[in-house]
Amino acid sequence: MKILFHTLLALLLFLAISHTLPLLAGSFPISPNFPVVFNFGDSNSDTGELSSGLGFRLQPFNGQTYSFNPPSSGRFCNGRLMVDFLMEAIDRPYLRAYLDSISTQTYRRGCNFAAAGSTIQKANAASISPFGFGVQVSQFITFKYKVLQLIQQDEELERYLPSEYYFKNGLYMFDIGQNDLAGAFYSKTLDQVFALIPTILDIFQDGIKRLYVEGARNFWIHNTGPLGCLAQVVSLFGRDKSKLDEFGCVSDHNQAAKLFNLQLRGLLKKLPQQYPDSRFTYVDIFSIKSDLILNHSNYGFDHSIMVCCGTGGPPLNYNNQVHCGSTATLNGTIIIAKPCNDSSKYVNWDGIHYTEAANRFVARHILTGKYSEAT
Ligand SMILES: *[C@@H]1O[C@H](CO)[C@@H](O)[C@H](O)[C@H]1NC(C)=O
Ligand SMILES: *[C@@H]1O[C@H](CO)[C@@H](O)[C@H](O)[C@H]1NC(C)=O
Ligand SMILES: *[C@@H]1O[C@H](CO)[C@@H](O)[C@H](O)[C@H]1NC(C)=O
Repeated sequence: MKILFHTLLALLLFLAISHTLPLLAGSFPISPNFPVVFNFGDSNSDTGELSSGLGFRLQPFNGQTYSFNPPSSGRFCNGRLMVDFLMEAIDRPYLRAYLDSISTQTYRRGCNFAAAGSTIQKANAASISPFGFGVQVSQFITFKYKVLQLIQQDEELERYLPSEYYFKNGLYMFDIGQNDLAGAFYSKTLDQVFALIPTILDIFQDGIKRLYVEGARNFWIHNTGPLGCLAQVVSLFGRDKSKLDEFGCVSDHNQAAKLFNLQLRGLLKKLPQQYPDSRFTYVDIFSIKSDLILNHSNYGFDHSIMVCCGTGGPPLNYNNQVHCGSTATLNGTIIIAKPCNDSSKYVNWDGIHYTEAANRFVARHILTGKYSEAT
């Protein structure tokens, strides 16, 4: 009886889980059928790469909302990222960062090359991350080469490492470009930023091509979010109120994000012809995040732009000199950027990154399949 009950329960759970997975015709879903997941990107999906690579620990308010194991999550967020929720949905462990040398996890089911601050363009002396997209792709190629060499020497290692079959049938995910646009605005006019976008996308295409040559076939690409709605951008570029749109976002930055997305989508429509037997899915993160920010109160959020972990109070609670968890002396007074009491009421965590609550919202919307498109 007990066994029957458990079987039934397992079956019901299976039905419940499989029901929540998007199985739309056209675009392929994030699905447990992919044996392995490789991810490339910036802080939107960094699960510890930059902190491991540069050897620092994030301010401990990061990761406070979720019990990661180990607790130093390396994520720029109070809790989980979109990519964490996507892995949960397909019943996989969170992706381990490529440079994370100390972990209880293997790389058999995935590896994450995304590093906070990374750009599609090559890093320069001013870059936060030396791990630009091209470097991330090179890291992947080195990873693959070493893994296959090891497995060739000892087949038993397939228990810990992805096999050749896994590399061929894996899911390759991308969420990068935001920092290329954000960085460009510090030295360029809007027209100059617009003019730079095709160059950025050429470099992106180079990386995709190198991965295709290595055997990657399933590409899952997030477009970029509404950059102009980040408190950091509003605080630096929105002092002149005429720069803001009706929602309090910097309109230049959002226009650049929109043009980037338009051209990214155009590129992804071309690629399947150039790269036969490959599949490309374009995921419209911009629309999901815009909906969340503009309609936040309908979704249970009190604040869309004002940051949770910051200082200064409304309207932004953000000071570019004092980041979440750090202290500074201003006018002889020591101030500390501390988290809000209830991060689930905030979209923005620290001025640049989304809260766990917002990431959960975005992931749920991705999983409906309504924002994905096979190109
Ligand atoms: C906000 O919600 C309304 C009503 O549901 C919807 O029509 C609109 O598209 C939403 N805004 C965004 C930016 O998605
Ligand atoms: C510091 O003091 C100056 C002069 O009194 C004032 O204008 C400024 O707003 C103060 N800054 C802060 C962060 O309180
Ligand atoms: C957090 O809640 C406490 C107790 O209700 C209150 O005194 C404090 O001002 C709140 N802090 C913030 C940052 O909202």
